[in-house]
Amino acid sequence: MFAVHLLSFYFSKLQEDQIKKVDRFLYAMRLSDDQLVDISARFRAGMEKGLSSESNATAAVKMLPTHVLSTPDGSEKGEFLALDLGGSKFKVLQVKVSENGKRRVEMESETYPIPEELLNGRGTEMFDHVAESLKDFLQKKHINQKRKALGFTFSFPCGQSKIDEGVLLSWSKNYKARGVLGTNVVQSLRQAIDRVGGINVDVLALVNDTVGTMMTCGYDDQRCEVGVIIGTGTNACYMEELRHIDLVEGDEGRMCINTEWGAFGDDGTLDDFITHFDREIDAASTNPGKQLFEKMVSGMYMGELVRLILLKMAKKGLLFDGRVSDALRTKGKFQTKHITLIEQYKDGLKNTREILTELGLSPSADDCLAVQHVSTIVSFRSANLCAAALAAILTRIRENRKLKSLRITVGVDGTVYRTHPQYPKRLHKVVRQLVPECHVRFVLSESGSSKGAAMVTAVAQRLAAQRRE
Ligand code: GLC
Repeated sequence: MFAVHLLSFYFSKLQEDQIKKVDRFLYAMRLSDDQLVDISARFRAGMEKGLSSESNATAAVKMLPTHVLSTPDGSEKGEFLALDLGGSKFKVLQVKVSENGKRRVEMESETYPIPEELLNGRGTEMFDHVAESLKDFLQKKHINQKRKALGFTFSFPCGQSKIDEGVLLSWSKNYKARGVLGTNVVQSLRQAIDRVGGINVDVLALVNDTVGTMMTCGYDDQRCEVGVIIGTGTNACYMEELRHIDLVEGDEGRMCINTEWGAFGDDGTLDDFITHFDREIDAASTNPGKQLFEKMVSGMYMGELVRLILLKMAKKGLLFDGRVSDALRTKGKFQTKHITLIEQYKDGLKNTREILTELGLSPSADDCLAVQHVSTIVSFRSANLCAAALAAILTRIRENRKLKSLRITVGVDGTVYRTHPQYPKRLHKVVRQLVPECHVRFVLSESGSSKGAAMVTAVAQRLAAQRRE
């Protein structure tokens, strides 16, 4: 909690009291170094459980094989299409990889809104919408003459027995379309493409967004062997030794594992760190009891966590003179983008006042300071938890390779990491503190989740061509 304490150095006695009041109220969210080491060890044990064939079926951390066997080597090239579904936006893209001999990735993309009712409706309707958007994109960009290879970034847990197949294991975030669970989403996409008609593509690869992020970053940096998303949801993937992956045959080489760390804690492992605010978030979610780590960390829930805390503090008379507004009582009115504004270096306090006023509250200067501090504690906890899990992955990679010290690059994407002014710095610092023997380079892999689908598709296409020869 070093950075949070440091803040108080600049404040007057009165302001310091305000900060202390929040610290006391939220003591359970302020994780000490020892607690982070403990959480990291628990995640490490969770990873092992997921990898072993004996315990995989009941493991919370699923450790899904992705059938991606290597990071890019720079020889990938061609023009590909990509679909990116499951992040904050649904996108269709055309990605050109290294067309002109240099290592370059160019892309053109369009965002297509997905109406809320499609997320909760029938799966076939959702896939039809995806295929129609793809058709619209092809027409707009005049790119339907030659048959194109397509990579599908689908950011949900899928069981894969090959690269162009994925059985949806569970929905997460705010998706819950019917009739998709337990089915092969690549097949559903292909069927929708056929139904819509006039779309000249081959779906060659299914990719989790973490894998796309790692692959995009890996195209420029061979040391990139970990991909992390901290956005609407949160998750990570990394390159594991095949000999440790019980569910896949073969002992030589490595395969990328999608950890699905969002589900860490679903088996009770984190019960002593889960606060009653987290329980409230979980109870009101579309998937109670599931994705508990994700609910403590990711952008879909952080704003709501702050709202619940402010509401409770106000009701106890600790904020806003004990007054609450209708907006403050309403789910979803306070969002993670507000946290991002509240924690801006220069305009943070001004933004705080504006946001609270918009919520129908009349905050005092002390209230604004307290609310800013609440935001800091919630986003700091998120960064801390990610750091603890990431430290476990890095230690595992280092030990797998029997190295004293490991030099590695981590590709990161996601709205929280990309837009929160202090998040990356906090995450990096805590990771370096937890694993001093790993020299970690963090690279923001912008649009990595979508571009990476093209990288994986490039490899899949090459392998398919080799098989035909
Ligand atoms: C959720 C999904 C996971 C995805 C993550 C980030 O946790 O289950 O597959 O990678 O969100 O989008």
